[in-house]
Amino acid sequence: MNLTRILLLLLLLELTVFTAGLPLSRRHIDNPRSWVPGGQHRYCDVMMRRRWLIQKGRCKQISTFIHEDLATAADFCTAPAVPCTSSRSLQTCHNSSHDVSVTDCFAKAGTRPPHCHYQKNDSIRPIRVGCKDRALVHLDS
Ligand SMILES: *[C@@H]1O[C@H](CO)[C@@H](O)[C@H](O)[C@H]1NC(C)=O
Ligand SMILES: *[C@@H]1O[C@H](CO)[C@@H](O)[C@H](O)[C@H]1NC(C)=O
Repeated sequence: MNLTRILLLLLLLELTVFTAGLPLSRRHIDNPRSWVPGGQHRYCDVMMRRRWLIQKGRCKQISTFIHEDLATAADFCTAPAVPCTSSRSLQTCHNSSHDVSVTDCFAKAGTRPPHCHYQKNDSIRPIRVGCKDRALVHLDS
C-alpha cells in the first residue's frame, strides 16, 4: 500500500469519526436547503455523503433533512409528550406543532458504498422529535 493510499484512508477514517459525532442538528437540519452540484435530483446522494458518510460499510437506509431553522425545530420540544417509535433511549417525543418542509431519502435497492444512491421525496408533513434539556437529540421516524 502506498503512502497516498494510507493518507486517504486515514482521512476517511477521521471524517467518519467526526461525522459520527455530529449533533442531530448538523445531521438533519438543512436550512436553507443546500445547493448540490449536478442538480436537485442528486440532493440525497450528496447530502447523505456530507452528513452521514458510510456506516459500518453499509449505505444508511433512510434519513430525513428538515428545511426549517434550528430554533423553530427546537420549539417543538415544548409540545406535549408523546411516545417515541424509533428511539432506544428516549421514552417521550414531541409532535411538531405545524407541518415542516422535509426531504426524505431512501436508499435504492442494492446500493453499496462508496457510492450510495438514494430516492428522494420532498414533502410538507408533521415530524416528531426527541429532546434533552430542550435541545433536539432525536428525529423520530
Ligand atoms: C402525534 O402524532 C401522531 C401521528 O404521528 C398522532 O397519531 C398522535 O395523535 C399525535 N399526538 C398528539 C398529542 O398530538
Ligand atoms: C412522498 O411525499 C408525498 C407528499 O408529497 C406523500 O404523500 C408520499 O407518501 C411520500 N412517499 C413516500 C414514499 O414517503
